[in-house]
Parts: sequence; structure tokens; C-alpha cells
Amino acid sequence: MEISEIVEFFKGEEIILPKKIEIILSLQKEFGIINQSYENILRKIKEKNEQAKKMQDFIYNKIKEYLLECKSCPLCFADCHTQKVAGEGNFASPIVLIGEGPGEEEDKLGRPFVGRAGQLLNALLNKFNIDRSRIYITNVVKCRPPKNRTPYVNEVKACSNILNLELEFISPKVIITLGSTPLKFFRPDKSITQSRGIWIKEKDIWIMPTYHPAYVLRQRGEKLEITKKEIYTDFKNALLKLKELLK
Ligand code: URA
Repeated sequence: MEISEIVEFFKGEEIILPKKIEIILSLQKEFGIINQSYENILRKIKEKNEQAKKMQDFIYNKIKEYLLECKSCPLCFADCHTQKVAGEGNFASPIVLIGEGPGEEEDKLGRPFVGRAGQLLNALLNKFNIDRSRIYITNVVKCRPPKNRTPYVNEVKACSNILNLELEFISPKVIITLGSTPLKFFRPDKSITQSRGIWIKEKDIWIMPTYHPAYVLRQRGEKLEITKKEIYTDFKNALLKLKELLK
């Protein structure tokens, strides 16, 4: 069934459309692609041309609008929070990195991974000759938790609408989860110690759980060397998998 047919079906009834459908409907209107199936539209967004880039920007901005409007959990009222931090980068990237939530620097600058953990992440990406603007980087929660504590389940749940929209439209082939919170987003029953370096398959997406860069920064001596090697290996395996999937 076409989306326009679904809307027609409910005409006259008071319905709240899921954000995903709202985005598709406004995209169809904006780009004059009314009678196209959802799958076709998702394919169009992924093409490598000017129109696709404009569509990606359009969807990214819509998701950002929803994020800026969001008051679904106590984090946006917390004292330490000054602004929401949206994901950033290439909305057509076949790989997405997911962290936990903004820290102090990220909250100040309104960008993900720009503090010390972000510097380590950039250095790691540089080892693979990847500029971070070529990929997409985001967090499970978009508001800084007080004292950088781990976000609570209700906060993750409230913010999951935004992350789900990002993943729906980017539809990456590979995800690297950084630390426990994004791992638990996909597999609530798993711990990072059990799961690090072991692939998880979620629908068509390959997920590689690894350490959070801030955890690596807290290690010392031999443990630091081991941890650095492990996170490097996880990134290497994720990128090899991506290369294989893109063949
Ligand atoms: N830690 C995270 O999990 N995300 C950021 O954006 C920064 C630090």
C-alpha cells in the first residue's frame, strides 16, 4: 500500500502520524515524488547525485527539528544541559558510529565527540585514513546527563525515537557501538565485556560493539596497551566487513 493510500484510508479520523511517515510525506511533497513506494524513496535517498544529497539534507533537518522540539525526558531540563547535540556527518554513510551521550565539551559546542574522547576517536579514524566528515557519528541520548552519568532507561527510551529515525533513513550496513549504552540499545541483556569484538546482526545491519574511547583513556600501563589494540582491531574488522559488503 502506498503511503498516500494509507493517509487517504484514515482521512477524517484524528491520527497522529509516526514521525517516519511525516518525514516521507513532506519529502514526497517537497521533491514531487508523490506516487512512489517507501522502498523506492529509500533507494532514491541513497543515490549519488545532487537530488539525493538535497533529500538527505532535508531529512536530516527534519530530524533535527524533532530533536529541538523534544521535551520527552528530564535530561533537557537538567542544570548541566545547555543544548541538544544532534548527530553529524555524512547522511549517506554506510557506517555509523554511536556513542552514549554528550559530555561537557559536546554540550558547550553542540557537536558529538569533540572533547578528549572525540580526539581519541579522530586519531583512531585517522589510522584508517578516514576523515570523520565522511561518516556519520551520533549518540544514544542527545542531551548531556548530569555529571556525565550513564543515561537512565527512560531517557534512552525517550531519545530512541531520534536514533531510530537516523538509522531508518541512513540505513547503514555497519554500526560501531562505543561502550555499553549503545550496545544495550540493541541488546539490553548483553554486557560490553561479553560482547566486545563479537558481531551482532540486527535485520540487515552488522553491529560491532567496542569500548567507549573515554574508557580507553582511563586505562593505564599494560591494560592501556591491550585496550588500545582491542579497539583498533574492532574498528579494523568493522571496516573490513564494510568493504566486503560494498563489493
Ligand atoms: N561521549 C559520548 O558518548 N558521546 C560524545 O559525543 C562525547 C563523549
